[in-house]
Amino acid sequence: MPETSKSIVIGAAPEGASDQRSASRAVREMFTSIAPRYDLLNHVLSFNVDRMWWRRTARAFRHILTRPDARVLDLCCGTGDMTFALRGQAGKSSPQILGADFSHAMLQRATAKSSVAQNGSGPGCIPNWIEADALNLPFPSAHFDLVTSAFGFRNLTDYDAGLREIVRILRPGGECGILDFGEPKGAKGALYRIYFKQVLPRIGTMISGVRGPYAYLPASVERFPPPEEMLARMKRAGLVEATWTPYTFGIAGLYRGKR
Ligand SMILES: C[S@@+](CC[C@H](N)C(=O)[O-])C[C@H]1O[C@@H](n2cnc3c(N)ncnc32)[C@H](O)[C@@H]1O
Repeated sequence: MPETSKSIVIGAAPEGASDQRSASRAVREMFTSIAPRYDLLNHVLSFNVDRMWWRRTARAFRHILTRPDARVLDLCCGTGDMTFALRGQAGKSSPQILGADFSHAMLQRATAKSSVAQNGSGPGCIPNWIEADALNLPFPSAHFDLVTSAFGFRNLTDYDAGLREIVRILRPGGECGILDFGEPKGAKGALYRIYFKQVLPRIGTMISGVRGPYAYLPASVERFPPPEEMLARMKRAGLVEATWTPYTFGIAGLYRGKR
């Protein structure tokens, strides 16, 4: 990473936001506005590939999830699909799984899905939900064995502060997994970009009835650091064994690191 970029705060900056506080408020309001249609839109716009990405991410941490004493936090959990995928990998063992998000409306959906899962479930844990800001988490230091975040980390208004907070709450030896969008290269990448920047915002706006969020999505992916820079930031925050694994030609990818 170039020396000059070290001191610059980088993070999500929705259009019209003038500082970090207003950016954070804009992000929360944006997700709250699309919460009622969020799941439907996710599955339609990703052709259901999102389910595969969540499952693949959860599988990567099976060695932690099958430990009954494990404490797991899914940050920026939204309506809880990543959290439920983690629970799925836990099988019959019952680690403590917690989903955290700062949008009340998103958590209401997660809670409703939990009740359905609880009714139809066999043995295993049911996730708990907590309303909290990922940049200021209400947990003691060195508490979790695993922290994940799917498509949420990119929306933080300060990526380095987000990474520092993850490192703070991880136990020594604990792991983190950040699943987020990437920018695929080559001819497939060029085709995908037409879909992502031209088609997806139109369909998203049409189904959600809200204009901003689906224009913000491609812009936020463009702002997100490329893998080599993100890995350098992870290492600087105190994570070791930092890696990035592309999913589906690099449309998405999983960052992993250990405290
Ligand atoms: C794109 S959704 C992802 C939801 C879910 N993880 C998934 O894979 O579908 C991003 C979520 O991050 C949440 N979020 C963004 N910034 C946050 C912050 N600073 N603290 C907590 N949640 C945040 C939003 O409220 C939203 O629910």
